[in-house]
Amino acid sequence: MLGDQISTDQNATDRPWLNSDAEPLIRIRGVTKKFGEFVAVNNVDLDIHQGELFCLLGGSGCGKTTLLRMLAGFEVPTSGQILIDGNDMSDVPPYERPTNMMFQNYALFPHMSVEKNIAFGLQQDKLPKDEIEDRIHAILKLVELQDYKKRKPQQLSGGQRQRVALARALVKEPKLLLLDEPLGALDKKLREQTQFELANIQDQVGITFVVVTHDQEEAMTLSTRIAVMDKGEFIQIGSPTEIYEFPENRFVADFIGSANILEGQIVEDSADHVQVLTDIGELNIEHSQPVQKGAQVWVALRPEKIHLSAEAPSEPQPNQSKGIVEDIGYLGNSSIYKIRLESGRIIDVTAPNQIRPKSRSHGITWEDTVYLTWDPSSVMLLNK
Ligand SMILES: Nc1ncnc2c1ncn2[C@@H]1O[C@H](COP(=O)(O)OP(=O)(O)O)[C@@H](O)[C@H]1O
Ligand SMILES: [Mg+2]
Repeated sequence: MLGDQISTDQNATDRPWLNSDAEPLIRIRGVTKKFGEFVAVNNVDLDIHQGELFCLLGGSGCGKTTLLRMLAGFEVPTSGQILIDGNDMSDVPPYERPTNMMFQNYALFPHMSVEKNIAFGLQQDKLPKDEIEDRIHAILKLVELQDYKKRKPQQLSGGQRQRVALARALVKEPKLLLLDEPLGALDKKLREQTQFELANIQDQVGITFVVVTHDQEEAMTLSTRIAVMDKGEFIQIGSPTEIYEFPENRFVADFIGSANILEGQIVEDSADHVQVLTDIGELNIEHSQPVQKGAQVWVALRPEKIHLSAEAPSEPQPNQSKGIVEDIGYLGNSSIYKIRLESGRIIDVTAPNQIRPKSRSHGITWEDTVYLTWDPSSVMLLNK
């Protein structure tokens, strides 16, 4: 249903989870993991399809690594079932699973060269020498480390080490690669660049990736789909656009990006819009789901979807408000404005800095009276 609302720039083969006949590569059925009395993963269900780059996203301690380790076979579910490629994994040890795991700290052998680190697993599997050489050649090319094959890990940068770890995991040609915070050891700039690299490599090899991350931007950049986790449960599963533009609850609206969240009551429910009374007045919201008059709801309005102006709108429009600039955060490419409305409520608005100011004092500034407007389709209506 959500899929219908989003422009489908990709076809169904790119989005196999929309096709109910497609056999998923991974089936997680009612999986729970307890450590003593503590429930780390609580009765989760999930299908992941061949070729996906699927992210498990959530704050520290929400159960991401535990779930990943159950897929790898390093942890045994307390209850529930995991199937990979149609086979029940209950009695299958890690080394017999069609999976490989890339650990958070990369776990490279410090005394071995890049080449030997990558060859290690293949030698363990007793692959013919020629094949090992061919595979290493191809994988070094893929991760662009041909010129570094004789180096030891400590002679490499953080980004290069990350690529060795990736190469070592991919060279075994698993059906499923599990990556725990793969970019966690890199600094911000390198991490952003590496996100694209990782997604490109995944696309080229076509191997299904399940990536654990606590970084929402990383999840948004990398994924075909994201499962947002909290306290061992899935709060929402969807594509980056669905998660960002159509959050199902306040937790997701607030966790992914930022949002002004207001409590309200449905006062009118007509065919094309819903009228919600909040402490900043009545909002007119495009109709997107069945609602009940009188029901308590929440609305979320993203800061970048609000238009800020020093001039009052020329025509009256339903979604507008007036306030005073209380604070400004200058980020260079954009600014965050904190606007105090007449009700006392503070609303965050972000605006791109498209034009370089002619002087240092320019445009909207502290204490100015400003007008906020937004489109009825920009307001997200949440039931919980
Ligand atoms: N072996 C273990 N024994 C006891 N508690 C554990 C064990 N592994 C993880 N936990 C607990 O389970 C919760 C989830 O851990 P984890 O899956 O590592 O979280 P995340 O990767 O999302 O940060 C945490 O509270 C953690 O302390
Ligand atoms: Mg973890």
